[in-house]
Amino acid sequence: MLSQKIEKALNEQIKIEAESSQFYLAMASWAEGKGLEGVSQFLYQHSDEERMHMLKLFKFVNERGGQAIVSDLKAPSTNFEDVKEVFSKLLSHETMVTNEINKLIFLCLEEKDYTTHNFLQWYVSEQIEEEALARTILDKLNLLGTVDGGLYMFDKDILNISVTNSGSTLA
Ligand code: FEO
Repeated sequence: MLSQKIEKALNEQIKIEAESSQFYLAMASWAEGKGLEGVSQFLYQHSDEERMHMLKLFKFVNERGGQAIVSDLKAPSTNFEDVKEVFSKLLSHETMVTNEINKLIFLCLEEKDYTTHNFLQWYVSEQIEEEALARTILDKLNLLGTVDGGLYMFDKDILNISVTNSGSTLA
């Protein structure tokens, strides 16, 4: 059974994951409008992943005797200067999410809720990967920034960019 404190905190995280999904969906739409096929596909996929993160928490709350809440979501920005701004915002958003997960972990230890603490380890690993991926993409964008046709190459390449445990690599 979840304590009220943990249930409330998990519901706040559900909201954050749902907002992340909306945020990346807005970015995908912007990229699609600019004809950036690869970038928009990457962002659509990322938006789906965030919905999956949200649902995983949602089901956990209900399985543990709480009630998962569907709440109002903040409208995301829809306009971006360029692709670099998109991925800088994505990275700062993910850093914020990581901080929120860390706060949740701390709360679980305070409340001696080791089940939820254990469940959240998946999110801890996921955040390491997501931040590393965003940094790899920004590095790549910086490298290609000055090259002629760099953005075109980046757009074709982005779906192949991946991160391994030993560091960032191109797949
Ligand atoms: Fe679900 Fe990208 O944090």
